Amino acid sequence: MDHKSQWMSSTGFILASAGSAIGLGAIWKFPYMAGQYGGGAFLLLFLLFTILIGLPLLMMEFSIGKLGQTYTTALYDKLTGYKLFNLIGWNGNLAVFILFAFYSVIGGWIIIYIGRTLLAFVNIIQPQNAAASFNWIISTPWTALLGQFLFIAITALIVSMGVEKGIERASKWMMPLLFLLFIVIIIRSLTLEGAAEGVRYFLTPRFEDITFESIVFALGQSFFALSLGTTGMITYATYLNKEANIGTASFSIVIMNLLVSIMAGLAIFPATASFHVKPEQGPGLLFIVLPQIFNHLAFGNVFYLLFLILFLFAALTSSISLLELNISNVTKNDNSQRRRWSLLLSGFIIIAGIPAALSFGVLNDIRFGAGTIFDNMDYLVSNILMPLGALTTTIACGHFMDKDAIISQFNSKTKTISVWFIAIKYILPAVILLVFIMQFI
Ligand code: PFF
Repeated sequence: MDHKSQWMSSTGFILASAGSAIGLGAIWKFPYMAGQYGGGAFLLLFLLFTILIGLPLLMMEFSIGKLGQTYTTALYDKLTGYKLFNLIGWNGNLAVFILFAFYSVIGGWIIIYIGRTLLAFVNIIQPQNAAASFNWIISTPWTALLGQFLFIAITALIVSMGVEKGIERASKWMMPLLFLLFIVIIIRSLTLEGAAEGVRYFLTPRFEDITFESIVFALGQSFFALSLGTTGMITYATYLNKEANIGTASFSIVIMNLLVSIMAGLAIFPATASFHVKPEQGPGLLFIVLPQIFNHLAFGNVFYLLFLILFLFAALTSSISLLELNISNVTKNDNSQRRRWSLLLSGFIIIAGIPAALSFGVLNDIRFGAGTIFDNMDYLVSNILMPLGALTTTIACGHFMDKDAIISQFNSKTKTISVWFIAIKYILPAVILLVFIMQFI
């Protein structure tokens, strides 16, 4: 008997996939990546990659999932007839496992910030201390590890109880609220003294800032932000019924994700200029700049707390999809084993995540490859495993799956879909491969 879960409606599916996509990637990672890799030039590359590569890939993942209807370490074999392609499913499982291990570090920071805001409700935001208290939180082992542990535990609890449906429903009002709050923050940020310089930095593409590095990282960011190349989106689409319109779903998720990324940039960069925070700061950018913006807002503390809660929620709807992918594969979609595996896997993830959490403190001196342990985990996932997963999936889909069956997953057979298939078959693998190789030169 098939114990597989099923979405209640296509709105449920869109909410969950949008929830998976929109998270730390758009809100926390995008601004600091843009700050490190060329501001406006990075934004331009990110927009191009998301629309020209991310959107078609998302459509591909949704169509494969909807057609395959099974967990991803069996799905490739089912659709291509070659067992070897199941390795793509395993690549995805490895990717999300490592991803969750370092993602939880940042999720943990949010939890600690929430705790801290609640404990010292009055007078919590002291702009002159923003950087110092951030550094304290991330470098003190017990705070970093406690936050990380709680983030993983909450995710595991939600997944093991199978209450994702409740989470989906909640995201119906949490997400719009996040949008609204962002608009408030953006208005405040844009009206700060000296904001114009930051806006210029973020929105003006200076073509001389486009480097090999910025290209590689912009592509990685577009994969990360849309949850591509891990088979996570394929997994969500396997829970889909026949009527769902995956074209519309892909399009709206891409637009929402872009909107949130741009809004995060518009919130952060004007303020960096005004408060003289370096845009190339790295992972701390958002955490250091935000309290200072809220400090310039009436009822700043209340709004700050609200923002942190919505931010945590956005991160959780993504981490749920990370754990869900691993679980669907180890349980082979048998829901009776869900609880046991949620517990076991989250235990492993906590262990794997410890070095990542400590790499902002006691393990900060360990540097190799892309930087700290955390940086290397991120690099391995965003720039190696995700592009590899996406590349091999385009090859599997374009050359080994039944073209008509794939195309029939879209509710209408338009010319656009035929062009899309050609892109999947020939153009995208070539472009992804090119960028992939670029990083080794
Ligand atoms: N897209 C998520 C984010 O931007 O926060 C991260 C993510 C979730 C990546 C799920 C991959 C994935 F399978």
